Amino acid sequence: MLKKSDQSNEKKREKEIEKLVKKLTLDEKIAMIHGASLFRSGAVERLGIPAIETSDGPMGVRAEFMDDRWIPAGNQDDMVSYLPSNSALASTWNTELAHDMGYVLGAEARGRGKDVILAPGINIKRDPRCGRNFEYMTEDPQLAAALVVPFVKGVQENDVAACVKHFAANMQETDRMMVDEQIDERTLYELYLPAFKAAVQEAGTYSIMGAYNKINGFHCCENKKLLDEILRKEWGFDGAVISDWGGVHKTKEAAECSMDLEMSVYPDFDEYRLANPLKELIQKGEVSVEMVDAKVKNLLRLMYRLKMIGPKKDDRKAGAYNAPKHREMILKTAQESMILLKNEKHALPLHAKKIRKLVVIGANAAKVHSNGGGSAEIKALYEVCPLAGLKMYLGGNTEVKYVKGYYVPEEIQTEENWQATSLDEAEGLAVGQAVRTDEAGNQERHRKGEEERLARMEKEKAEVHQKNEKLFAQAIEAAKDADAVIFVGGMNHVIECEGYDRSDMKLPYEQDLLIEQLLKVRKDVILTFVGGSTVEMPWRDQAQAILWSYYAGMETGNAFAKIIFGEVNPSGKLAETFPAKYEDCVTAKNGQFGVWGKVSLEEGLYCGYRYYDRQHIAPAFCFGHGLSYTDFEYSGLTLKSEKGKSVKLTFSVKNVGKCAGAETVQVYIAPIAAKTDRPDKELKAFAKVELGAGRSKKVSLTLKQEDFAYFDESLHKFIADAGDYEILVGASSEDIRLRGIATLS
Ligand code: BGC
Repeated sequence: MLKKSDQSNEKKREKEIEKLVKKLTLDEKIAMIHGASLFRSGAVERLGIPAIETSDGPMGVRAEFMDDRWIPAGNQDDMVSYLPSNSALASTWNTELAHDMGYVLGAEARGRGKDVILAPGINIKRDPRCGRNFEYMTEDPQLAAALVVPFVKGVQENDVAACVKHFAANMQETDRMMVDEQIDERTLYELYLPAFKAAVQEAGTYSIMGAYNKINGFHCCENKKLLDEILRKEWGFDGAVISDWGGVHKTKEAAECSMDLEMSVYPDFDEYRLANPLKELIQKGEVSVEMVDAKVKNLLRLMYRLKMIGPKKDDRKAGAYNAPKHREMILKTAQESMILLKNEKHALPLHAKKIRKLVVIGANAAKVHSNGGGSAEIKALYEVCPLAGLKMYLGGNTEVKYVKGYYVPEEIQTEENWQATSLDEAEGLAVGQAVRTDEAGNQERHRKGEEERLARMEKEKAEVHQKNEKLFAQAIEAAKDADAVIFVGGMNHVIECEGYDRSDMKLPYEQDLLIEQLLKVRKDVILTFVGGSTVEMPWRDQAQAILWSYYAGMETGNAFAKIIFGEVNPSGKLAETFPAKYEDCVTAKNGQFGVWGKVSLEEGLYCGYRYYDRQHIAPAFCFGHGLSYTDFEYSGLTLKSEKGKSVKLTFSVKNVGKCAGAETVQVYIAPIAAKTDRPDKELKAFAKVELGAGRSKKVSLTLKQEDFAYFDESLHKFIADAGDYEILVGASSEDIRLRGIATLS
């Protein structure tokens, strides 16, 4: 419930909005609800209504673009802090850091004069090959919800709106504009919507981005069920819905549902569906003006909330970009995001003083990633790569020899921005200009573009193979003559990027072959990776140490070095399963390899660990897994049912090793004798506990009634059945340390 003073302020605001709407002409209203430039809506200067300035994206505020071309403006003042990707953030399992990263992003967006930052991306990871998985958080709805709430609050503390994307079920890039995700209602409500609902109801996000894809036959940006029934009516959203760029297809449909602002990639702004075509329908009496008014009201409300208009206009925060304190927070997040997957024989940490000669092998040691990936690309003020981080850490007394190890083809440099062509591949355009054509033609060109890309990659494979012979030999020779060897491999944004999916789950450029050869000459090679989504690790049994880093922002190399040399104890845990091989994945089973047209989520709720559990498939590294340089013991679980409605858990965690560390304790529920089909276990709570060596702490967590609930389709609501539930407390989804039974009455 709102306080009385807030209620009266809201009433006043709504009255003001009503008044403004009455003053607007139809043309002015229409100008407000579609893009007037690639990233800006139309303003109404006469009434002091400003344009809404939007910007990508999730890892920092994107460079400025020209108004009507997908060409960077070429400014020197738009470099920014490069934040850890959402996949890195999620691996911290740290809600405070989620808040901090939201705060930094919001402050930088405001600092750059933006009103809406097009982030965070929270789609559930269903297929490990999705080209945008690096931008998303996790395969688990509860974890995504827990992190998105503080993130959005952090953004919005800066008088900037978060634009939570992509609503909803945008889980593949192949055919992303047309693909129809066929999802049953229970799965939608239990897996693909909860994080969005939390962003709306718990975080109060001011805006949401409608996704490109269709759900059950209707494009998300024109989907009445999604936008009107669920988002507005069921969840009570009164913020603004912004389309993904080019996500609106039909004028009448978009006009008549809760799609408030149409943005697109085309420079023909007057021809946007919610521009001249809408005006014509209104003039013919086919669409009512009230529909337009509703959109305008939602946008004006957004402006009030951001203090762009209204009585608090002079109090709007100024923001700041590239602030030193932002870099500190980014470093801390990067440190907590890196995941120690394996560490036998105390291979890590390395002892800097004992190493006279360090050999570093692998292209990702010397690679920066901030400038790629699609709309998440940014112009970073700087980015410390792992090799620089290691050298900066060690100083000059250790010889650091770097060899590339494997060949990475040169990136094709074009003058055009990928975004202009990713949605439309028409030839003969002015540089950076996208052109509108019919949907079938577009889809066909995408398909052709994808075929060409795959053919190019096949050709590159031959080139890689030929060049690798020499590079492998150099790497092996170098590895023999060193006190320690660190391999830094993984992926890059040519391999994983917006606009297409990976065609397999393998490390590119024959890295597996090189790793196998390296392990033959040195068992103690420290294997490290930078990447944005899961890969197969067929050599993992032979390896002693494996460290995984997602794209972790501008301080990646510094965080990396601190972990490698033990100044920081790793505490990241996987927010997604690393399956042993792609064939084990649910999308492989459903035969959805590069599917166009229709994707049927036949697996229902069985996505991520829910699927591997049910199928008894052992992953390479399970959801929630991540090691530390110390060990933790769990003990003394007590469960107290509170009036049979909620359950309070208490248990102790002790750091039984020799150094300080942090442990993420995870609570899963497993219904016993469920009346309906339920996943074997589901994450319901977690906490990150910092502990000095030898210290212990009591952890208390509460599971509420809704944590036990499932979505009942016939009643169209969440139901928690009475009965017994096993409560599993663990260090990962498979490393369950404590068990108890809770009864719900
Ligand atoms: C992406 C969005 C992005 C928008 C604006 C689209 O292609 O899907 O995530 O915010 O472009 O750049």
